[in-house]
Amino acid sequence: MRVDVLTIFPDYLAPLDLSLIGRARRQGLLDLRVHDLREHTHDRHRTVDDTPYGGGAGMVMRPEPWGETLDAVVASGAGVPHLLVPSPAGERFTQAMARRLAGEPWLAFACGRYEGIDERVLEDAADRMPVTPVSLGDYVLNGGEVAVLAVVEAVARLLPGVVGNAESLVEESHEDGLLEYPVYTKPSSWRGRDVPPVLLSGDHGAIARWRHEQRLTRTGARRPDLLPPSAGLLADGLDIVVATRGDLPELLVLQWACWVGEGRSAGSFDIPPLAETLDDLVGSLDGWTTWVVRSAGRLVAAVRGRMSTDDRRTWETGRLMVAPDLAGRGIGRALLAHSESAAPAGTTRYWVNTGARSERNLRIYRKAGYRLQAGEGRYPGTVDLVKRAD
Ligand SMILES: C[S@@+](CC[C@H](N)C(=O)[O-])C[C@H]1O[C@@H](n2cnc3c(N)ncnc32)[C@H](O)[C@@H]1O
Repeated sequence: MRVDVLTIFPDYLAPLDLSLIGRARRQGLLDLRVHDLREHTHDRHRTVDDTPYGGGAGMVMRPEPWGETLDAVVASGAGVPHLLVPSPAGERFTQAMARRLAGEPWLAFACGRYEGIDERVLEDAADRMPVTPVSLGDYVLNGGEVAVLAVVEAVARLLPGVVGNAESLVEESHEDGLLEYPVYTKPSSWRGRDVPPVLLSGDHGAIARWRHEQRLTRTGARRPDLLPPSAGLLADGLDIVVATRGDLPELLVLQWACWVGEGRSAGSFDIPPLAETLDDLVGSLDGWTTWVVRSAGRLVAAVRGRMSTDDRRTWETGRLMVAPDLAGRGIGRALLAHSESAAPAGTTRYWVNTGARSERNLRIYRKAGYRLQAGEGRYPGTVDLVKRAD
């Protein structure tokens, strides 16, 4: 990637010679060039600013040095750069923007000072190249250089080869909208403070769950604005209600979304949950009781149950679904238990059916005490599982 920085303080960018970014430059992964605007002034005092038209405090950067420096930068390469203009009035810089910029071949930065750059510089540049004003945050710095240091570091570390262990980039704060979990290293006890025991347990599942909870807690405490409304939904706080006709269009969409993966693993999308229509769901409200869970208005999970029509002692649970982003929190288990608890007195066993290759569902049902029945299940490619009702 090529990066050009236009500034009246070239020395401000010296830190980009250090550490990983400096190494990336030496390895040729990052071609960073810093340009002194004053090289393109033509008066004795090398003037880059003047008083604002219309009056007001402070000075504004004159357009001529900017125009000439940008012309020289553009002439020195093939194509045009994407011009980023640090400004407190710009688009907020985020990890998502860093990712987008890391995919571009050539970036240029225009570091403003004083009250900013004459607006015509940006208009003139926009005739030739993409121009994006970028803000580091809702505060005012003295100049764009500090913003450039931050943006270049955030972008360059995403370039292949710049950070040794690429996996470490995946779990970081902001990569998936949550803040990172707390991290610890040796010694395991320091000044009377112990590392959370789960991290020493060797149980990778438990560690992953603990880290996920920590991310949610930390994000909720420090940056609640980042949390999607459903993120805090936990199995023990579910509001499970009987579905009405008004729920069914959303329910159908969730059902299709949840069973596409099943269809793929079964090698066929010709399976009942995907074949079902809205009319079928309306019809199902007759024989089945359907329950849904909503979070911040969004329908995120559902299940249905009924007494078997063949034998009046088996309680059947079906269409157990949880939105993919909320999987792994015990919501499915809670809904299964809810359906079982609705079975009338005299029920001797609970029945469920799932794809023969649906490893995840099979695991959940086994964990809930269900045993696989021999042979094919009620539908082609499925298996039945049952559990004694006590
Ligand atoms: C003193 S500021 C100018 C502020 C300008 N008068 C305004 O209110 O929008 C000088 C320069 O610092 C840089 N700057 C200040 N705050 C920034 C921020 N939050 N993000 C990015 N750049 C910033 C910009 O390059 C800006 O041109």
